[in-house]
Amino acid sequence: VTLGVDLGTSGVKVVALNAGGRVVAHASRSYPLLTPRPGWTEQRPADWVAGAVDALREVAAQLTEGGHTPLALGLSGQMHGAVFLDARGDVLRPAPLWNDQRTGEAVDEIERAVPRPDLIARTGNRAVTGFQLPKVLWLRREEPQVFARLARVLLPKDYLGFVLTGVMATEPSDASGVGALNLAGKTWDGEVLGALGLSAGLFPDVVNSWDRVGGLTPERARDTGLPAGLPVVAGGGDNAAAAVALGLRAARPGVGSVSLGTSGVLFAPLAAPTPDPQGRVHLFAHADGGYHLLGVTLACAGALQWLRDRLAPGTDFAQLLAEAEHVPDGAEGVTFLPYLAGERSPLMDPGVRGAWLGLSLAHGRPHLTRAVLEGTVCALADTYQVMRPLAALEHLRATGGGARSDLWLGLLSGALGLPVQRPQTAAEAGAAEGAAILAMPHAGLHPDLHAAMDAVAPGGTPVPALAAGTALSQHAAAVAQLYPAHAAVSA
Ligand code: XUL
Repeated sequence: VTLGVDLGTSGVKVVALNAGGRVVAHASRSYPLLTPRPGWTEQRPADWVAGAVDALREVAAQLTEGGHTPLALGLSGQMHGAVFLDARGDVLRPAPLWNDQRTGEAVDEIERAVPRPDLIARTGNRAVTGFQLPKVLWLRREEPQVFARLARVLLPKDYLGFVLTGVMATEPSDASGVGALNLAGKTWDGEVLGALGLSAGLFPDVVNSWDRVGGLTPERARDTGLPAGLPVVAGGGDNAAAAVALGLRAARPGVGSVSLGTSGVLFAPLAAPTPDPQGRVHLFAHADGGYHLLGVTLACAGALQWLRDRLAPGTDFAQLLAEAEHVPDGAEGVTFLPYLAGERSPLMDPGVRGAWLGLSLAHGRPHLTRAVLEGTVCALADTYQVMRPLAALEHLRATGGGARSDLWLGLLSGALGLPVQRPQTAAEAGAAEGAAILAMPHAGLHPDLHAAMDAVAPGGTPVPALAAGTALSQHAAAVAQLYPAHAAVSA
């Protein structure tokens, strides 16, 4: 079997898969999220390590009990975070995360140093608040005494790889979320870094996502109960790894995915690195050697959770969704803008905020809920409009908690004009499973990554599109027009 680790934001998940993709062992641990100031999100890398080691020990015990032999371990995790290390490899301060908003000035600094079209052509992305590169510039500006001791900066999962093996490395899918990887060459872009006065030596070497980084050290073998020397494979950022688990290949760009989780994510595989010229969606390397577009609506199921917690505490999501089902299309004139946490794609505006419009005395909670569902779907449709000329999507595989709702998927399918399938094993096709699949070629379980993906990929059941969704696609275009005026009053 191979192991896969997903170092997430709320916790770490470890799974062990056999060659056919069946989960034979799993464990998870949670750890705290630190919010020392408004807009800041951080975690202590030591908490990640403690959680991961604990979960690995539990999985190792399950494997021994079941008579399974671990052959390799693959890594995945939250993207974009910055683990700052000194020359001895010690952590210098808590790591700012992907959803941290402190880097506004650093983003401006990048835009001044490298013209936006040039940055997009080289790295696939414009400067984005959450990415790792502006975090490094923030450190230089705000904590110069820490920056003076900085020898290396690692992404979260790559830091875990370093702790497990003693070797620092990264791979293209996560490295492309730093904001300084040359996408065509999959190497650090010396021009971009040079314009900012940074050296490529700050960042680790880039290997293939399915390559071995190193072997488990004797000390970590003792801590976890796994064999010393167990190969640790580079793996992928959480979105790319989850796409591997869903069988999404760059060479088959027709099959993409949508995740209705805390945030809503659209993933479109691409064979070549063709960015949106305005950088309204991300372009990253895929973990299978190709590329992909990524669109992120920051508040998706998170918006429904917000509504539940504020207006209907203790109510089941199923109950809220059932109420919303009886509300006519278009929520009888209620429109919701889901920008509760600012917005990434396609607006790239961390300062915009949410809104309900069109309220009347006749509206009640069911309308508000329906409007939230429709608003998140319209936001994803807005992103899809940017992706459409670049990607060749024919259908989507849906994951995340919201994908359990036929209503939500039906609205989405209609609004995007794309068939949506619910994979039979949605609950098990996540980043940890993808990381385990990425470790299979090195373990010798399959000849290469694509063979591993084909052996494991889940089948899907189509979800019928709702007629309401089709009308929503026009509505989405109208809603998009609201943004400039709304941004002016909500800023
Ligand atoms: C992707 C992103 C998130 C994190 C969450 O750009 O910021 O999906 O990877 O873990």
